[in-house]
Amino acid sequence: MDEILIRDMKPEDVALVNDFFDAMGPETRALFNRQDCNRNGALRFCAEQDTNHRYWMAVLDGKMVGLVFFMQWSTGIPVLGIAVRDGIRGKGLGGKLIDYAIAEAKAAGKGGISLTTQFANLRGQTLYESRGFQRMGQYVNGIEIFYLLAFKTEE
Ligand SMILES: CC(C)(COP(=O)(O)OP(=O)(O)OC[C@H]1O[C@@H](n2cnc3c(N)ncnc32)[C@H](O)[C@@H]1OP(=O)(O)O)[C@@H](O)C(=O)NCCC(=O)NCCS
Repeated sequence: MDEILIRDMKPEDVALVNDFFDAMGPETRALFNRQDCNRNGALRFCAEQDTNHRYWMAVLDGKMVGLVFFMQWSTGIPVLGIAVRDGIRGKGLGGKLIDYAIAEAKAAGKGGISLTTQFANLRGQTLYESRGFQRMGQYVNGIEIFYLLAFKTEE
């Protein structure tokens, strides 16, 4: 894991992004990329670099092996998304990526982070709960849980 670099996603990363999403198996696609929504979001960010999003990628041996991003970055509680390449899961990269994103959100003065994950996504739930995310209840679509990580404020 030490050789993995986490860096900003740039306009020239289109081929790496497409390779990352092309390599996803059916389970990951069902959990993370239904109707190609997260691929399209990443490609849109490559093209536009818009300030309401932040995208970082993990790179190993010239390949994209992980992705972490925020939507609604201009709000006080941005929405996080994360994925690790099939085949290198369970080795700590998800933890490394989420810690990186949490540090960025804290450094930017955000109040916390929200996200949703499917009830079936036990690995994701283990990851989020290990970082202090709390279950707030069922999300409106009925198949996901809504999670919140609230940063403590000095009183
Ligand atoms: C969720 C995901 C990002 C986690 O990445 P990862 O690299 O596997 O994460 P880690 O290796 O850091 O492990 C995270 C935790 O899950 C635990 N875990 C591993 N396999 C597990 C399993 N099958 N069931 C439950 N927990 C599991 C690990 O022990 C670890 O917990 P710990 O930090 O308390 O030890 C990755 O599995 C993934 O990309 N999944 C598909 C896409 C996805 O679901 N994205 C999120 C959508 S909301």
